[in-house]
Amino acid sequence: MIIGEEKGAFELAILVTGGAGYIGSHTVLELRQAGEEVVVVDNLVKGHREAVRDVPFYEVDIRERAKIIAILKDHHVDTVVHFAASSLVGESMVDPLKYYEDNVAATATLLQALVEANVKQCIFSSTAATYGEPIETPITEEHPTVPTNPYGETKLAIEKMLEWSYQAYGLKSIRLRYFNAAGAHPDLAIGEDHEPETHLIPIILQVPLQKRDHVMIYGDDYATPDGSCLRDYIHVMDLASAHRLAVKRVREEGIGSEVYNLGNGKGFSVKEVIEAARVVTGHPIPAKVGDRRQGDPAVLVASSQLAKEKLGWQPQYNDLQTIISDAWRFHQDHPHGYTK
Ligand code: UFG
Repeated sequence: MIIGEEKGAFELAILVTGGAGYIGSHTVLELRQAGEEVVVVDNLVKGHREAVRDVPFYEVDIRERAKIIAILKDHHVDTVVHFAASSLVGESMVDPLKYYEDNVAATATLLQALVEANVKQCIFSSTAATYGEPIETPITEEHPTVPTNPYGETKLAIEKMLEWSYQAYGLKSIRLRYFNAAGAHPDLAIGEDHEPETHLIPIILQVPLQKRDHVMIYGDDYATPDGSCLRDYIHVMDLASAHRLAVKRVREEGIGSEVYNLGNGKGFSVKEVIEAARVVTGHPIPAKVGDRRQGDPAVLVASSQLAKEKLGWQPQYNDLQTIISDAWRFHQDHPHGYTK
């Protein structure tokens, strides 16, 4: 498809904040492939310039309100997909005020810019951490939201900010609560590169990359079949397609502020993930059992029925081996991340 061909010179554009980050960069590509005009802002504190290609890019912080307003107006933005945030659970426990500043305060400034530039639609990158310790599983959107860490608390505060902003300013929004994002683009050289890395799959893959000699399993005395924690791993490409569908929906008439879970609905234990990585990499990947990590729920599994019904979302990459294989390809090609 020739991008923008049939839509005329003043085609409306999508601004992606945090578009140089892991899920943001995959979503930018997905939106481009669907023929959308896309503009990226990212302060590059955690993001990678190399992850953004062939779209206008601004190294701007979302707190720079005047610059954001100018970008929104210059590019005729009608919808913002908002990823920019601090997102480390552990760090948020140690420095909660950083999370209130980077997430809540910065988003308030961003939303003021949207209101001023008359942008009426926003897709927000939220998290399963808004639920806290599950009281039933799979978790539906009706489940109580009682976050157990400042990261989840600040994401929930932003969700509420968006609900009130719809009532007050008519700013429509779709909030997407991701479970465990994993994998990488199957064809293009983008993937997960965090510093520090805390997520299970990239940590496991550091063993065959000879960057660590074993994986530590954080507890095997949970009330789960093999004693290790169960998580719902969702391919980053499936998250990207959900954002594309959410943009389509939020542009429709009659949408207010909605929330959807994004997961596969199947839990894999830490031990199962390690075993699947052994099969994918052909490496023995030694593992040791350590203490539980503070704040880890035993089981986090999503019901994504609502996203399937309302967004028409259908995850395509829903087996664990595919998720790990795609991550493995990216890490083999980028053993030291993007720039090194
Ligand atoms: N784990 C290990 N060893 C490691 C790293 C992780 O055993 O070296 C375990 C964790 O204890 C957990 C599972 O692997 O049981 C997954 O851990 P991750 O850190 O990869 O992911 P989390 O489930 O902790 O975090 C994810 C998202 C967060 C979100 C959270 C919601 O990455 O953004 O779910 O609780 F906040």
